[in-house]
Amino acid sequence: MVTQVQRESASGPVGLTPAASGPMTNNASFKAFRRFNDVATQAYTGLRSRLSERGLVHFSGDGLPDRLARELCLRRAFPIKELFESFEFFERVRRRLRRPQVADLCCGHGLTGMLFAVFEPRVELVTLLDRRRPASHTVVLDAVCAVAPWAAEKIRYLEIPMSRAAEYLPPGCAIVAVHACGVRTDRCIDLALSLQSPVALMPCCYAQTANPVPRCLRRSLGSALATDVHRTYRLDAAGYEVDWTAVPRAITEMNRVVVGLPSKP
Ligand SMILES: C[S@@+](CC[C@H](N)C(=O)[O-])C[C@H]1O[C@@H](n2cnc3c(N)ncnc32)[C@H](O)[C@@H]1O
Repeated sequence: MVTQVQRESASGPVGLTPAASGPMTNNASFKAFRRFNDVATQAYTGLRSRLSERGLVHFSGDGLPDRLARELCLRRAFPIKELFESFEFFERVRRRLRRPQVADLCCGHGLTGMLFAVFEPRVELVTLLDRRRPASHTVVLDAVCAVAPWAAEKIRYLEIPMSRAAEYLPPGCAIVAVHACGVRTDRCIDLALSLQSPVALMPCCYAQTANPVPRCLRRSLGSALATDVHRTYRLDAAGYEVDWTAVPRAITEMNRVVVGLPSKP
């Protein structure tokens, strides 16, 4: 059977398509959990219902990702789609953000940041930052520590607003933000520029973010695309090398990942 992803792949790699192959597709294949490239199973990855024992059947392997996913299922940690958002985002940015310190801003439960502590041996400290620490953070941390006890001492949670983040983060600290919502994605860019940090963002909630974007671009491209184009030019003008990639749309429609590295010659 030819899957949807295989059909897309026939005209070039999914995710980041080189310019020579045509415009970048806004879909992507599963990389962290490749078994979900079978379209028959993809509906599961976008569910907003909570992880549960019923999900164990999807994660029967011996590897660390499956073991962590099983712990999260058993603890009913959070909505199913958030597992895939975190893992697939992490898989796309982990090698580009190799820094001893990583900060996950507007992190919620914080799984995305915690994956750096679990899977990247050279990461020494992960700062999770949110103005309100949800109860699910402790549940996720317990699951992480059950399968990756080495991660515990690398993780700290700051229950403070974004506006105070710079007080706690050193220059060069890698910054990630998954669905930080609206202008907070722009505040993450502000912070990255001030720290000269690599940054990886999965933006959402574009209603109020398009204001600085020329009206013709908003009308032609739509607010979401125009806003991220504007952000990209902003990073580029500051000397960043910018790349776009995506997580699978089966997980979320808000799937664009913008990566900026302060290394442009
Ligand atoms: C849509 S949630 C995303 C959570 C997480 N990144 C994820 O993908 O599951 C947005 C988060 O931003 C946090 N937030 C909102 N305003 C904030 C602020 N001013 N400073 C820090 N966090 C904030 C909220 O508490 C919430 O956890």
